[in-house]
Amino acid sequence: MRSLLFVPGDSEKKLEKGLTSGADVLLIDLEDSVSAERKESARKIAAAFLVANRDCSSPRLFVRINDLASGLADADLAAVMPSLPHGILLPKSNSGKDVTRLSAKLNVHEAHADIAEGSTQIIAIITETAVGTLSAASYPDASKRLIGLSWGAEDLSAAIGARAVRDDTGRYTDVFRMARAVTILGASAAEVAAIDTVYINYRDDEGLAHECMEAERDGFTGKLAIHPAQIPIINRIFTPSNEAIEHARKIIDAFAADPSAGVIGINGQMFDRPHLRRAERLIARAAHNPKDRL
Ligand code: COA
Ligand code: MG
Repeated sequence: MRSLLFVPGDSEKKLEKGLTSGADVLLIDLEDSVSAERKESARKIAAAFLVANRDCSSPRLFVRINDLASGLADADLAAVMPSLPHGILLPKSNSGKDVTRLSAKLNVHEAHADIAEGSTQIIAIITETAVGTLSAASYPDASKRLIGLSWGAEDLSAAIGARAVRDDTGRYTDVFRMARAVTILGASAAEVAAIDTVYINYRDDEGLAHECMEAERDGFTGKLAIHPAQIPIINRIFTPSNEAIEHARKIIDAFAADPSAGVIGINGQMFDRPHLRRAERLIARAAHNPKDRL
């Protein structure tokens, strides 16, 4: 799950285009990119699109519903759940309790659809409210459905009354750097994927690549996207390189050759158990996306 592309749920044309974008996940949006008067038609278009592409395994199809306090989430779920999306993206999550509540709602829809309880996955955006940002540690055990956490700056800036999210040099200001950091920590604590937020300047490939590299360095394993042109860049940077894979294999092999060792040396560098865990995680990610390597 390297690239997750937002597609406005009321645009049949963009939905079709999303299918061939190379994104690992399409986020069919019923929330911010759909105006109030188009919500109902977006629900219908999204449901029809899900049915038409039921056998599609790549991209995986998620629906971003409206948040649980909006009064719209239940109608969103009622409209799309019979069409069996792979997952739901929950915006403005205030804590793990919101994920648990959503999970209970999904239980009911899954029972109606006669599919196994727990089949529908959840990704939550956890920093769009102040309380959500301060509750990033609350996601362990929220639900077995939870596979990833992401963050957002724009809604949080509106919530706290910040006039900008970045300073003059383009760097996120403190509150948003904190939101980004607690997403990495919260995801790690909950043992789910950390997914970086959108880069809104969709014609700036260089800026996007730079932000992806920083995100990958810091522990994110994927990134949200808003335009198909962003997908190849995100996929490239979040696919482990052949050198990184080779290096990880060396560490794993060295520990396998000496199972009682707590620490080993390779080419004058020390590696201990945390390095082994990191190497194993990288190999698992690489195995997931083999087609883009070489
Ligand atoms: N998914 C699928 N297709 C998309 C797309 C997206 N997110 N964004 C653009 N496209 C398509 C366009 O329809 C266009 O198709 P065409 O060549 O067949 O005409 C092509 O890609 C090129 O688009 P472009 O002209 O560069 O951009 P645009 O002006 O049409 O759209 C946005 C710009 C920002 C409105 C559009 O990218 C978008 O809707 N993004 C998603 C927004 C969103 O969901 N936000 C919520 C989360 S923050
Ligand atoms: Mg939003």
